[in-house]
Amino acid sequence: MAETTLKCYVFQFLSNTLPSNPSDFCTMHPMPKLFIDTVGCQMNVLDSELVVGSLRRQGYELTTDPKSADVILFNTCSVREHAEEKIYSALGKLRGHKEAHPEKVIGVLGCMAQKDQEIVTKRAPYVDIVCGPGQLARVPELIDAAKKSRKKQYAFSLGRADAGKLEVTQSFESYDPNRDPTMRPTPFQAYVRIQLGCDKFCTYCIVPSVRGPEQGRHPDHILAEVKQLAGEGCKEINLLGQTVNSYKFDHGDGRKSRLSDLLYRIQDVAGIDRIKFVTSFPKDMSDDLIQAVRDLPKACKYLHVPAQHGDDVMLKKMKRLYTVSYYKEMVQRCREAMPNVAISSDFIVGFCGETEEQFATCGELIRFARFKNSFIFKYSPRRGTKADELYKDDVPEEVKKRRNNDLLAVQAEISAADHQSQINTEVEVLVESPSKAALKEQGQSAYTEHTQLTGRTMTDHIVVFEGHPRLIGQTIKVHIDQASPWTLFGTVQTDENVAVTGDLDILPAIARLPDRKIELSLVQLLAYR
Ligand code: 5AD
Ligand code: SF4
Repeated sequence: MAETTLKCYVFQFLSNTLPSNPSDFCTMHPMPKLFIDTVGCQMNVLDSELVVGSLRRQGYELTTDPKSADVILFNTCSVREHAEEKIYSALGKLRGHKEAHPEKVIGVLGCMAQKDQEIVTKRAPYVDIVCGPGQLARVPELIDAAKKSRKKQYAFSLGRADAGKLEVTQSFESYDPNRDPTMRPTPFQAYVRIQLGCDKFCTYCIVPSVRGPEQGRHPDHILAEVKQLAGEGCKEINLLGQTVNSYKFDHGDGRKSRLSDLLYRIQDVAGIDRIKFVTSFPKDMSDDLIQAVRDLPKACKYLHVPAQHGDDVMLKKMKRLYTVSYYKEMVQRCREAMPNVAISSDFIVGFCGETEEQFATCGELIRFARFKNSFIFKYSPRRGTKADELYKDDVPEEVKKRRNNDLLAVQAEISAADHQSQINTEVEVLVESPSKAALKEQGQSAYTEHTQLTGRTMTDHIVVFEGHPRLIGQTIKVHIDQASPWTLFGTVQTDENVAVTGDLDILPAIARLPDRKIELSLVQLLAYR
């Protein structure tokens, strides 16, 4: 999953006797505040939403400023070194602050915490809490214990080799408590975890170690969560899993549920208009799933299926379990079923031993598959992975950088052609928020005055257009006038553009938390791959 940055602002802690309106107490008790910064994929964004939700139920309140917070949390990522360094740098900035205010609680949560339990404590000895992604349910208790005891608090899941599979699996809890609607990127879009962990063990990847064994959540629990979200006004559900299309649940009575079964059930949930899922593993792109996406009107015709490389030797070294010709055949199967399906990919450039010829095959694959977009990463060796153990990281950094840029240029050419072909068409857009530019220029007023808005089509294309923010949360028709490689620009088709419907209830929901709204809108823009 792609790297994103999210700042959520956590809350003031109220004691056991909560008033009906917590703000009634604010003037009476100087309440401690909490700040949370999230780096990483959508799974981390969801984890942060859930951590903040559980703290909120205990009366916490968010702040945007870490230094004004009494509890400062970092939800971390360990997929690439860069993501880790960002966190250490943020922690470094807090060193003096913590020395001056020893009563403040600093916590490192998530994948880096699980991977580098001791290193975190060594590099930032003033951190009070270190908690892996499989133990997030314990965060409120850990904060309390840290405050009371002034001792370091640790909570980790078992390592993959520390015990039998069942025991290791059980140490990664499915952390999906009741949702808090105010903590979502927008009130009408929500992530729903359907799967934990990963069992693929691609040689470069740390995820199977830090997120544990693959486990599918019970479909009834997923459905209950989706219905709850629909009841709260949510229109778009994004199902999350590291290899989401490998999702399976064995009911123990001979019945098995697959992702396609889930899609059929969610199709029937009133109020939900769009269903997406990320991230798919190429080998598990089964025909039943392709048919479900084709046949279900609510299923977005968008598949994120990372190829990672265009060369068989590299794919084998990465242990991706498929060949380039398999991948191409999979793309063809998807396009035969859905000629207009948008497919996106991830690529790793500069993996161990990659030659110029091998690198060039990635561009060839982009041209063949005509990806809507690709996320391109420079290989970053991760301690504890097979690739780090077996192969030398021998492609120099400047070469990785150049290959990254070259591949982006190929993708930009393909994306530009795809976008050009959409000029003068009409697309259905779910309006998400003011555009990044509008938020930068207008600040809060972008939520109340005519502005530049952004949204996505059913194929996950980003569309920017002028309109009133009351359109946020509505699905409208937009005529595409212009295109850049990464964005479509259009005009709202007037029949729908000022329709006043019950959907407008969404705006007050966004406006309720004035400090949060801009940040969360940015999150939403960044969080989508
Ligand atoms: N170095 C660089 N990129 C990586 N990814 C995973 N592990 C690494 C690594 N060690 C990329 C893959 C994956 C995406 C989420 O991150 O492309 O699909
Ligand atoms: Fe990592 Fe491979 Fe699992 Fe994706 S499928 S999370 S790249 S091990």
